[in-house]
Amino acid sequence: MEIKEIRLEELDPKKFIKEKIEEIRSIVGENYAINALSGGVDSSTVTMLGHLALGEKLRTYFIDNGLMRENEPQEVIALFKKMGVNVILVDAKEKFFNALKGLRDPEEKREAITRVFYKEVFGKIVKENGIKFLLQGTNYTDVEETVAGIKRQHNVLEQLGIDTEKEFGYRVIEPLIQLRKPAIRKVAQALGLPKNVYDRMPFPGPALAARVIGEVTPERIEIIRKCTSIVEQELKDIKAFQYLAILHEDKVTGIIGGKRKLGFQVEIRCWESLDAKTATPKRIPYNILEKIAQRITSEVKDVVSVTYNITSKPPSTIEAV
Ligand code: XMP
Repeated sequence: MEIKEIRLEELDPKKFIKEKIEEIRSIVGENYAINALSGGVDSSTVTMLGHLALGEKLRTYFIDNGLMRENEPQEVIALFKKMGVNVILVDAKEKFFNALKGLRDPEEKREAITRVFYKEVFGKIVKENGIKFLLQGTNYTDVEETVAGIKRQHNVLEQLGIDTEKEFGYRVIEPLIQLRKPAIRKVAQALGLPKNVYDRMPFPGPALAARVIGEVTPERIEIIRKCTSIVEQELKDIKAFQYLAILHEDKVTGIIGGKRKLGFQVEIRCWESLDAKTATPKRIPYNILEKIAQRITSEVKDVVSVTYNITSKPPSTIEAV
């Protein structure tokens, strides 16, 4: 199916919301639907659209895959509770880490996350509850990058020839598939979502696993979780599209306690971009970079090297995996 982009300048958010609510209602009918909320702009927008369209007939889940940032599950659930949306927390940490065990290839890791998410976690929920539909926030850029063979976005299914009804037992509804990020932010704002949601920095579906080069283990995720938290604190006032930390696979020689010690390398990236299609590194003041390096090496055990990425996308991508 050919998907036609709705460009930012031609988007009428109110009209779009009305049409999508009607569309979701007519597809779901008397059935129930579910959706996964991560707290990002796309899934938050879909949650509100679904909530307005279906009310109690939509069940919203937060899947704790063990790959989220510090306190993310609790914060997102509390935020939506304030907006009248009840979110069910599912602890799936073990399932994800088991599936990722021993995998080092980026596409294999992405595929494993997709499989666990759609087949094991959601497959089970829909089967147990007799649900037929999953609402999700796939956007135009996700489809474009996957189809172009740049990166398999975890939420792109049909465009890769995956028949979700046959493979997972439910149909996927994607109300945002014609929009890019800036247009989705406009819809989110029109839906009344708070600024810290519609203006939120993008965060990838595979979460911190997109920022761990090599094997994804609970220990390695914990290292990058701490680094991410430091980077987000130190760069929160910088005007940028996205900033992040990456854990490298190779260890390098460092000095800890006056002795040689092989330690971890962490890379910082901070991007200027409009829609993530292309991006350039932000020229961050050197003193801020030094503070990040100083904090990471003193607060995160065994990190001995912190670097800053100065390459644009392309040839880089925004995340590392
Ligand atoms: P890349 O790394 O492909 O990222 O340059 C482009 C933008 O997409 C985000 N990203 C993802 N978002 N599922 C998502 O929903 C994914 O699998 C995924 N991978 C990357 C990334 O954070 C950036 O904003």
